[in-house]
Amino acid sequence: MRALHVPAAGQAPQLAELPIPEVTDGQVLIRVKAAGLNPLDNGVAAGALTGMLPHEYPLILGRDAAGVVEAVGAGVEHVQPGDEVIGHVLLAPPIRQGTLAEFALLPAEAVALKPAGLSFAAAAALPLAGAAAVATIDAVDAQPGQVVLVNGATGGVGSFAVQLLAARGVTVVATGTATDAERLSQLGATTVVDHTGEPVAEQVRAVYPDGVDALIDLASTDAATAPLGAVRKGGRVAALSSVAGLEDALAEAGLTGGGLLARAAREVTGPLAEQAADGSLAVDVTTVLPFDRATEGLAALAAGHARGKTVITIQD
Ligand SMILES: NC(=O)c1ccc[n+]([C@@H]2O[C@H](COP(=O)([O-])OP(=O)(O)OC[C@H]3O[C@@H](n4cnc5c(N)ncnc54)[C@H](OP(=O)(O)O)[C@@H]3O)[C@@H](O)[C@H]2O)c1
Repeated sequence: MRALHVPAAGQAPQLAELPIPEVTDGQVLIRVKAAGLNPLDNGVAAGALTGMLPHEYPLILGRDAAGVVEAVGAGVEHVQPGDEVIGHVLLAPPIRQGTLAEFALLPAEAVALKPAGLSFAAAAALPLAGAAAVATIDAVDAQPGQVVLVNGATGGVGSFAVQLLAARGVTVVATGTATDAERLSQLGATTVVDHTGEPVAEQVRAVYPDGVDALIDLASTDAATAPLGAVRKGGRVAALSSVAGLEDALAEAGLTGGGLLARAAREVTGPLAEQAADGSLAVDVTTVLPFDRATEGLAALAAGHARGKTVITIQD
């Protein structure tokens, strides 16, 4: 099968032939139709997780996919060969399997049936970003009537977080440039704050002088520049990227929360796929590329200015 993989530690990814993985207990082998990209894919390719989890090579890139079940391992009962599914390769030792391949081996706990009304491309865009949006919303315990700031709202996770918050009856303040305002409003944002202008916290306080109830931060890397000042005392913060000094800064500001790791298990992705199929959740796929241009998609994502999701078409 063709797979975009890192042949050995430190080497550049290449699209070349590898053996089809053999299905093992508790695993599902799928014929991949489409694979969604995430910033994590670039991190894995660069070896960013080598200190955390063992890696085995050749290492196939990509975590999200949609496709058709080819075979199931012992103990897998909720899907069978021929089913159309959406799935994710959970972060577990060793890091080796991936979805940027004609066939992918996925843990059964992260494989859900794909509703018929959802395209493979939209389904492939959902798992990690959708699950991460749900995880951050749960972490800040966003309630109807509250105001939540989503910092980094324009990318993959933000596109889902803004919609899911608005659907809960939460007032959403989203960051984005002037050209993003219309798109973010359509997704459900009430106020759009330009993060390339004045400090975000100041702009938010100009509209909400008492501060917002919570911050979902998808963009900050340092607490010193994170818009913590937008949040009222006692408010909550959930961050997805690694934010230096966050714990101390939260304590100092009288806020609670911290960083978290999302898990795209089927209990989360299945219901999101149903919502996407019934039209209550839009999957904002902004770029679709053929398999032989997957590295272009990864490079664009690495540049840090994604809008919505990028999906790679693997097989017809
Ligand atoms: N912990 C987990 O489980 C988990 C899961 C999923 C994702 N993540 C992480 O969460 C982050 C977001 O993921 P994603 O998939 O949404 O990434 P993405 O699709 O690459 O989007 C990132 C967005 O952040 C915006 N941004 C960058 N710097 C900003 C700033 N200073 N202020 C406001 N916005 C800014 C970018 O827009 P501009 O061009 O306007 O800057 C871009 O739209 C990534 O770091 C990812 O690795 C973690």
